[in-house]
Amino acid sequence: MRDFMELEKRYAFDVFPKRDIVLVRGENARVWDADGREYIDCVAGHGVASIGHANARIAEAISEQARTLISCPGIFYNDRRAELLEKLAAIAPGNLNRAFLCNSGAESIEAALKFARFTTGKTEFVCAMRGFHGRTMGALSATFNPKYRKEFQPLVPGFHFVPFNNFEKLQEKISDDTAAVLLEVVQGEGGVNIGQREYFEQVRELCTERGVLLIIDEVQTGFCRTGEMFACEHFDLQPDMLCLAKAMAGGVPMGAVLCAEGIEVPVGRHGTTFGGNPLACAAAIAAIEFMQQENLAEQAREKGDYLVSKLRQLELKRVREIRHLGLMIGIELKEKSKPYILALLEQGVLALPAGATVIRLLPPLTIGYEELDVVAGRIRGVGV
Ligand SMILES: Cc1ncc(COP(=O)(O)O)c(C=O)c1O
Repeated sequence: MRDFMELEKRYAFDVFPKRDIVLVRGENARVWDADGREYIDCVAGHGVASIGHANARIAEAISEQARTLISCPGIFYNDRRAELLEKLAAIAPGNLNRAFLCNSGAESIEAALKFARFTTGKTEFVCAMRGFHGRTMGALSATFNPKYRKEFQPLVPGFHFVPFNNFEKLQEKISDDTAAVLLEVVQGEGGVNIGQREYFEQVRELCTERGVLLIIDEVQTGFCRTGEMFACEHFDLQPDMLCLAKAMAGGVPMGAVLCAEGIEVPVGRHGTTFGGNPLACAAAIAAIEFMQQENLAEQAREKGDYLVSKLRQLELKRVREIRHLGLMIGIELKEKSKPYILALLEQGVLALPAGATVIRLLPPLTIGYEELDVVAGRIRGVGV
């Protein structure tokens, strides 16, 4: 294991604080390190591996497509891409019938920002404090945390931040220059903060009234994670653009912006080399079909409720609050979460932070109930 770590340390341009394990294999909700040690994976590639690691149907779809056609740029039509676009329109909330396909969450945000500027002819955006939308310059401009932003100024101008779930403050920031409001339904990186129905209703109404577009970032919450195919469905929230990525293609890099009627960008003004490539499209078709056939949204709902009720029964002494929507779970502690996340790793459970005091759990939605029992037991075991 040391050898691989040394190689990465020597040759990688490392931008992540690393944990000292080398993951080499996965199967459903479990992963193994190079020494053969087993872990229950509640990181799941930052919420990517919703359909489980080494999912056989994805493996088949990828290998068949790899033998058929991997790349096909957007200047040509393609069978897999057409099929995926039809599928996305079928599962999209409301009238989000057209999609721009790309390769990551940040790219989907970048595209949505550009589409909003072009469509409205306006340049400003209202975003939420504690919101996270990615690390590229546009997405970073919409991201709140000063830790990510401060050395990269000047960012794109015209981004305003208001407290999440506070309609009055948001209303105050809307002006005649506002192109769009950009929000997550559940703030993931920001601490698993869940938006309120009334807030979303008011924001939707205001946007419609003021001719401001509503962009919803479901890069983390999309594709069944929260107990619906898309988290905005919990609140009957109808975005003008919906940004997606992470779990979309079963682990193959892919993103999308689903757009309502009226969102415009003419030919030649935006593009991507890899976006909508047949390999990723084939993987996304297989992943979405798996989600539908296995009713993963319902599984996420039931398993999220199960794990959270287990955790609540344990009456953990360091816990301030447990927040969750489906299998997106935030355990807010009365102190810093990092030592407990490292202790969990030692105990064979991979977990994530979300801000300084939250332990975030994003396991594959296919995780077993016995595994959830083990996770709850080990969380107690490390002294949470
Ligand atoms: C809500 C949200 N938006 C955007 C992004 C950026 O996605 P990516 O890392 O694929 O660029 C993330 C990543 O964590 C996210 O959670």
